[in-house]
Amino acid sequence: MIAPSILSADFARLADEAAAVTGADWLHVDVMDAHFVPNLTLGLPIVQSLLKATDIPLDCHLMIDDPDRWAVGYAEAGAYNVTVHVEAAADPVKLAANLRAAGAKAGLSVKPGTPLEPYVELLKHYDTLLVMSVEPGFGGQSFIVEVLDKVRQARRLVDSGELTVVVEIDGGINADTIEQAAEAGVDCFVAGSAVYGAEDPARAVEALRARATEAAAQVVRGVH
Ligand code: DX5
Ligand code: ZN
Repeated sequence: MIAPSILSADFARLADEAAAVTGADWLHVDVMDAHFVPNLTLGLPIVQSLLKATDIPLDCHLMIDDPDRWAVGYAEAGAYNVTVHVEAAADPVKLAANLRAAGAKAGLSVKPGTPLEPYVELLKHYDTLLVMSVEPGFGGQSFIVEVLDKVRQARRLVDSGELTVVVEIDGGINADTIEQAAEAGVDCFVAGSAVYGAEDPARAVEALRARATEAAAQVVRGVH
């Protein structure tokens, strides 16, 4: 799956920018509060408007303090998946239950330096795991390859049936980096600058999907 990040889109033309990636599986929406991360983007009113402007399921990535208080509003509004940061959540088990009760998938994100081991039990309450492959806060940064160890670890846990999360990666994904992420076992790729920085965003989505699909197929065939 490919999830274009509107962080790299034109914020004054969000409906058009959503329409420009009609083949996308999810539309990734980066909510930043200038506290959890040193950047400020958008919040619930804009997500509510975006929900009316597109049929693409919204994947809301909340880079905010106190998600226990704010995240459920995005689920109630109709976001498909609502991801909170494990570094910010006070009661992530209860939060996941609240997100699901409000009708959304529950996502948990880990920053590049946050290990996975302490959270494996917790992830049994979640539907998606968002592995950050850049420090959260800004688009256009370079891919941190070391996080692929966490992707492989998550893939093993899913393949063995211990977890049922969708494994998602976010940050620095482009035509050069997507293959190694696909080989490591990613299910859903967030891409901001690689999609909205392209001449034709819809074609960029399909090109990324083709590369990821081919790389994953080679793993199945045992080429890598
Ligand atoms: C960064 C955001 C990402 C960002 C990715 O904190 O979470 O979703 O949009 O942008 P690229 O794909 O340009 O690295
Ligand atoms: Zn994001």
